[in-house]
Amino acid sequence: MSKSVLKPVAALASVAVLALSPLAFSHLDENEFHQSYRQSYFALLGANFGPIGAMVKGEMPWNQEQLQGFTDDMNAVASLNLLRGFPEGSEKGTTRAQPEIWENPDDFAQKHDDMTSAVKELASVVEGGDRAAIAQQVGAVGQTCKACHDEYKSKDYLY
Ligand code: HEC
Repeated sequence: MSKSVLKPVAALASVAVLALSPLAFSHLDENEFHQSYRQSYFALLGANFGPIGAMVKGEMPWNQEQLQGFTDDMNAVASLNLLRGFPEGSEKGTTRAQPEIWENPDDFAQKHDDMTSAVKELASVVEGGDRAAIAQQVGAVGQTCKACHDEYKSKDYLY
């Protein structure tokens, strides 16, 4: 092989090595992005549910249009694939997820389904505009958050 051919090949090879090197360490970061995904999901749920709850409790002025917006956004977030953020082995790190999640995956998935159904129902109840019914459904959604947190979310970071 002449020098003129080798040179670009060598250059390509070093580019390839550069491109690959972050991948070589990716196992170190894998948990982090799963945890970041699921925590972002919950943070967005909470960012919508907070003002919904405040409105229902009278801590914020009732604004039907805003309420519908929060609820629709919450419903959209709830419909994302949360379970993708809980692969085996992602229990260690900066997380409040309890290890029991991976021992009871069916129960965890069921509790997630209960929440997404309750949020979906809330979106349609809010559309109806009946304040008492809305308050009741907000309570029902809150119960589904609590049911899962009581079993599977620690108050503190575990590791
Ligand atoms: C199926 C179980 C489950 C349901 C249902 C659930 N959560 Fe959570 N939630 C968790 C777990 C587990 C964590 C901890 C995630 C972590 O730290 O990796 C969490 C974390 C959170 C956090 C902290 C996010 C952060 O910034 O780290 C908030 C806020 C939250 N949930 C709000 C809610 C709200 C509001 C609801 C109901 C509308 C809800 N969750 C329903 C399991 C659940």
